[in-house]
Amino acid sequence: MTTAAPLHPALDPRFFADSAARDERFTVVDRWVDCARFDDADPRKRLEFLHRQMNEEVAVCENAARSLVDHPEAPWELRMWLARQAADEARHADNYRRAFLARGGRLGDYPVLSFQYRVLGRITSLAGRLAVQNRTFEVDGLDAVTHAILEAEADGDADLVALYDAQQADEVVHIRFANEWIRRLTAGRPAVLLEVGRALALAAQGFAAVFTEGGGTRVHKYGVAEELRAMAGFTEEEIRTAVALNEERRERARRADA
Ligand SMILES: [Fe+2]
Ligand SMILES: [Fe+2]
Repeated sequence: MTTAAPLHPALDPRFFADSAARDERFTVVDRWVDCARFDDADPRKRLEFLHRQMNEEVAVCENAARSLVDHPEAPWELRMWLARQAADEARHADNYRRAFLARGGRLGDYPVLSFQYRVLGRITSLAGRLAVQNRTFEVDGLDAVTHAILEAEADGDADLVALYDAQQADEVVHIRFANEWIRRLTAGRPAVLLEVGRALALAAQGFAAVFTEGGGTRVHKYGVAEELRAMAGFTEEEIRTAVALNEERRERARRADA
């Protein structure tokens, strides 16, 4: 039996469509503040991360698959990329599941977040979805995984280092094909470019609503993975802008925490 959870009443349904269905083992929440959050020293912190990340990988798989269903008119080459992405994300989810179980976790021990699936459901344009899912959320993930690799190395956890490393290689490919296809889909089409802008604005508002309370700490911990972004098809100018924005955000978060 699967169920889709109702949206938290504090959130504006203009930014969030239906949640993905999860079976009864899982508690689906809509806001970061409702996730299980532990201190850095608490061993459950790492476990909770693996569990939450497993769910995020499932959501990205679902989003790529949904774009295939919703956009049968998309060029065949792009549809192949989305199909490959869905397969990669399913593998990532399974890797996180195994890592979580091997460390003593039980599926459903912690709430999972509905954010990525709900936001993508409000975006109809394929270029817009690629801009939000691959070119924004997955890029944030690239920075986060770079940080997670350093933590796992410091812990001497070779299994996790290998998991993150393999995942990161796939994510670079997902971001790169999105970069390439956004350029192709928007070239000479100002209306599509406008759709991308609208999608990004919608996702930014959704993100702000979900991560308002206590989400700041997740952004000022790590910087921008510059080399990986270059591999993923971002221009030098785009990387410079990302670094500047990230430094500004980290500075703001540091001041807020002080
Ligand atoms: Fe992934
Ligand atoms: Fe990905």
